[in-house]
Amino acid sequence: MHIKQVKDDIYRLSVNIEDKDYLFEGIWPIPHGISINGYLIKGEKNVMIDLTQDIFNFPQEFTNQLGGATLSIEDIDILVVNHMEPDHSGWLREFCKKNSKAVIYCTKKAIPLLQAFADVAADRAIAITDGQILEVGDYELQFFETPNIHWPETMMTYERKRNILFACDAFGSYGSIDENAIFDDQLSSEKHKFFEEEALRYYANIVATFSPFVLKGLTKLGGLDIKVICPSHGIIWRDDPSVIIEHYKRYAEYAKGPAEREVTVVWSSMYGNTKQVLNMVIETIRKRNIPVHVFQVPGDEIGYILASAWKSAGLIFGMPTYEYKMFPPMAHVVEELQVKKVTNKKVFRFGSYGWVGGAQKDFEKKTEKSGWDKLGSYEWQGAPTEEDQAAMQKALEEFCDALIEFTK
Ligand SMILES: Cc1cc2nc3c(=O)[nH]c(=O)nc-3n(C[C@H](O)[C@H](O)[C@H](O)COP(=O)(O)O)c2cc1C
Ligand SMILES: [Fe+2]
Ligand SMILES: [Fe+2]
Repeated sequence: MHIKQVKDDIYRLSVNIEDKDYLFEGIWPIPHGISINGYLIKGEKNVMIDLTQDIFNFPQEFTNQLGGATLSIEDIDILVVNHMEPDHSGWLREFCKKNSKAVIYCTKKAIPLLQAFADVAADRAIAITDGQILEVGDYELQFFETPNIHWPETMMTYERKRNILFACDAFGSYGSIDENAIFDDQLSSEKHKFFEEEALRYYANIVATFSPFVLKGLTKLGGLDIKVICPSHGIIWRDDPSVIIEHYKRYAEYAKGPAEREVTVVWSSMYGNTKQVLNMVIETIRKRNIPVHVFQVPGDEIGYILASAWKSAGLIFGMPTYEYKMFPPMAHVVEELQVKKVTNKKVFRFGSYGWVGGAQKDFEKKTEKSGWDKLGSYEWQGAPTEEDQAAMQKALEEFCDALIEFTK
């Protein structure tokens, strides 16, 4: 990948994680990759905004791309650290060893993390104050604390003369970037659709828990005339940054409910008894013109289930009883959704048991604090009879009525 001009002497440096087996944050599959972007402002003083992760050949790649602007690591005078998560700061340790002069601008909360993660002494850093302006040649950088988008120490950097926001994790997405299509105006409508899906999954996996902070951050940045958004993952928005701002607002608001009039069904079955009602479940919902997304566990990835559940106003869980409790892989999904604060949903649960059951009780207990409106459940012993199918269908019709009312 080559260094790319964003505007004037502002450039993007970027790498894609292309390894299909790589799990982002150690858990999330990224079959379509993810980009990690840093930004360079070249001038009387050279500024780097965010670095890269210290994996694969990424530090070398960033070094080569700096070379494309006829600069080396030692030429950087100011390093802005918006966020200390290692996908943006992994290279910091080596970078600071090679460049002993660069002054670091970051939040006060980031300073102990510089030491802990990268062995960088506090006296190399200047703690910004919220809203502070730093003039660097023809550029005017303004720093805004944006705690918890994504870590407590996170901030964003805004170039005031050109109205460019360096947003780090905010407004980011999964998906590798094609070197010849790095701006929103260079993408086909299919590619826009692709990145929209990748942005939702990125949001659900990485940012979702912090949705109230995203809304606070959006209010805080609301007064800025943002013309370009340069995120640290994903494409640069220069034609219409309001597109990604609106997406993020919508995603953050899903947490307050209602999300979209859609249903995510997550199911599992050891011997097929729970599975026997699945077609009826799907058909009953579809007949009401409600889109249904179906996931089986184990098998389907939690990263995808989360994205779908985040967007759906309705959740349905199907699982049998296993040793007096929920079938374990489903228990994991139910727990993970709550960890990610998937909340304000209409919920239904069904499943087969062998003797006295236990899954329903376990489900009730483990979702006590979920913020889910548990509208109904249906259980049966062994294989479902026709009466079971009919009774459950009736309960699901009522579930759909409530969901339609909820999403009006
Ligand atoms: C390992 C294992 C543990 C089970 N534990 C229970 C249990 O604690 N209570 C119960 O009522 N049934 C239990 N069952 C019975 C299943 O819930 C029952 O066979 C059910 O029909 C399985 O649904 P499925 O065909 O959708 O997997 C257990 C079955 C297995 C294989
Ligand atoms: Fe992050
Ligand atoms: Fe990140």
